[in-house]
Amino acid sequence: MKRTHVTKASPLALDESLLVEGDVTEVLPRLPDESVQCVITSPPYWGLRDYGVAGQIGLEPTLAAFVNRLTGVFAEVRRVLRPDGTLWLNLGDGYTSGNRGRRAPDRKNPNRAMNTRPDNPPGLKDKDLLGVPWRLAFGLQQDGWYLRSDVIWHKPNAMPESVQDRPTRAHEYLFMFTKSGRYHYDAGAIREPGGRGPRNRRSVWHIHTTPSAGAHIASFPLELVTPCLLASTRPGDLVLDPFFGVGTVGLAARLLDRRFLGIELNPDYVAEAERLLSQPLDAAARRNGGRRPASPAKPPAPSRRAPGAAPLLPSSRRPGK
Ligand SMILES: C[S@@+](CC[C@H](N)C(=O)[O-])C[C@H]1O[C@@H](n2cnc3c(N)ncnc32)[C@H](O)[C@@H]1O
Repeated sequence: MKRTHVTKASPLALDESLLVEGDVTEVLPRLPDESVQCVITSPPYWGLRDYGVAGQIGLEPTLAAFVNRLTGVFAEVRRVLRPDGTLWLNLGDGYTSGNRGRRAPDRKNPNRAMNTRPDNPPGLKDKDLLGVPWRLAFGLQQDGWYLRSDVIWHKPNAMPESVQDRPTRAHEYLFMFTKSGRYHYDAGAIREPGGRGPRNRRSVWHIHTTPSAGAHIASFPLELVTPCLLASTRPGDLVLDPFFGVGTVGLAARLLDRRFLGIELNPDYVAEAERLLSQPLDAAARRNGGRRPASPAKPPAPSRRAPGAAPLLPSSRRPGK
């Protein structure tokens, strides 16, 4: 299996699944307009983690710069999204640093946590919740996206916190944005059990966090991605994750016979994603901490290509629906 690099002159062919090592701000402009049915992604948190690669998002000196940079990335995402497409966006929050500058070492992942903290954003006080997900959501709404839902991802196994003066955080947001007022949404595919039988999916999802595969420490659970894919795509559709990490979205796409395009800056995570996506599907799903979801279609087998070739995993479907 190979990694694809993109040059400025080369548009990307998207007829099969593809994993691209590169900076999202350089790769997205190589994609054709309206070529992607759905985007599911989890950008880096602001000021939390140093992924150790030049060009990474999340190290901006101010919260405003972070929100602006991501808003620019998602403007390009909107260009490549089909008119009836959907963006599912998960983003973590945090608290002001209290202008403490230095961060206590992360004993579990000493080489990953940032050792400095950004100053309090203007207007915020010590101990204030930053509200990063909502700041970005309002920015995207302002930029033209339709904000259709805020899903609460409740984590029943959330990490304990040492706080005694506020509730322990046990949730994150998953926003559903669309490009237009009318879009593809298969409510029936993600109905949930109710007292009197199946009912429309509610906006609170109870999903355990799962131990991350390999070196990565912030991958999201397969169970979080699967309903998004089922509601917003059909078999054969193309799903994009511009912050691919170790490839959870690619795995979910394979399991449900969708094509994927993954963009990831860090070569270690690209290698990890390649490993995950080369495994037999059941083993890969288990390794990612999720059970294999019921799939209406048989997923394609992975294929290996010589370096330089574009497709990573073939699909029986072609793009351009
Ligand atoms: C929260 S993690 C995503 C994890 C992913 N959802 C998974 O399940 O593995 C964010 C990822 O964004 C990547 N990243 C940061 N800046 C980037 C950039 N400019 N272009 C592409 N990827 C970037 C990081 O290397 C990291 O792997």
